Amino acid sequence: MSKVDLSVSIGSLKLRNPIMLASGTVGYGNEIAEFTDLNKIGAIVTKSLSLKPRKGNPPQRIVETPAGMLNAIGLANVGVEEFIKEKIPFLKKYDVPLICNIAASSVDEYVECTKILNVEETIKAFEINVSCPNVKDGGLQFGNNLSAVGNVTAKVRAATNKPLIIKLSPNVSYISEFAQVVKDEGGDAVSAINTLVGTSFNIFTKKPKLFNVNGGLSGAAIKPVALAKVLEISRKVNIPIIGIGGIMNWKDVVEFMIVGASAVQIGTLNFIDPASSEKIIKELENYCFVSGIQKISDLTASYII
Ligand SMILES: Cc1cc2nc3c(=O)[nH]c(=O)nc-3n(C[C@H](O)[C@H](O)[C@H](O)COP(=O)(O)O)c2cc1C
Repeated sequence: MSKVDLSVSIGSLKLRNPIMLASGTVGYGNEIAEFTDLNKIGAIVTKSLSLKPRKGNPPQRIVETPAGMLNAIGLANVGVEEFIKEKIPFLKKYDVPLICNIAASSVDEYVECTKILNVEETIKAFEINVSCPNVKDGGLQFGNNLSAVGNVTAKVRAATNKPLIIKLSPNVSYISEFAQVVKDEGGDAVSAINTLVGTSFNIFTKKPKLFNVNGGLSGAAIKPVALAKVLEISRKVNIPIIGIGGIMNWKDVVEFMIVGASAVQIGTLNFIDPASSEKIIKELENYCFVSGIQKISDLTASYII
């Protein structure tokens, strides 16, 4: 098979292929490394990190749904200091761009986390989570407020020269308005989408299945929503988009790229098949080869409407 160019760029961030592992679905990389060769992946995104360690919500934190899952983990994480001490050394062993996802309950905390992590050379970019539906402070309080997203983007932008990605919430009327604010305030890219707010009740006890009552819906069920959000941004705002939501195979990746994504993230699928990303990369190469596509980046926003 003659060589297909799978590399993509998201602003100044160059990736060997468009497949990234989504925040919260591969922890800090150590467990998934047993199943997938991290040296083959486009990039790995960490679980959301906060300034101090967070225990997250009490159980039950996960509920399976007919075509995906609801989670209300509540941003459990080791905190930035422990991440630097205990987790980065493992990730340094691999030749894979490391993107740190940050979640916080105040603008100052976002900035502080960014400053602490910014000095680490291994970290190639930041993804700012302004869209987690499962925490009381921060999360959607930021994610569905245009001026809050603008403010976080501007302040974090001032704290780092590394590529800055803002992860948008689908739980808004017009996601493109948020992408525009990110662009205006100096963000390099947006990732879309985080999970959709959902819930599930036990019909016998009449109680919510999740301790947090609401959770974030992910998996195959959300793909059409995610595609529509990516397309909306692509048609309205000139900013690189990382497509996320319900990707289950290589065809889904192609679909996301056609509607406007420069790269994608694999989330819930990692729980079903932790080796899927490597397979998807091979299948994408084959698809490009048989379709006569020399550069996969040509697929981005190639839709015909
Ligand atoms: C168990 C679980 C935990 C998650 N934790 C985070 C997180 O810490 N930060 C974040 O930005 N997104 C988090 N997400 C959202 C995913 O990164 C992704 O945006 C979402 O699941 C949609 O993609 P998918 O349908 O492929 O899973 C989490 C998702 C799941 C399923």
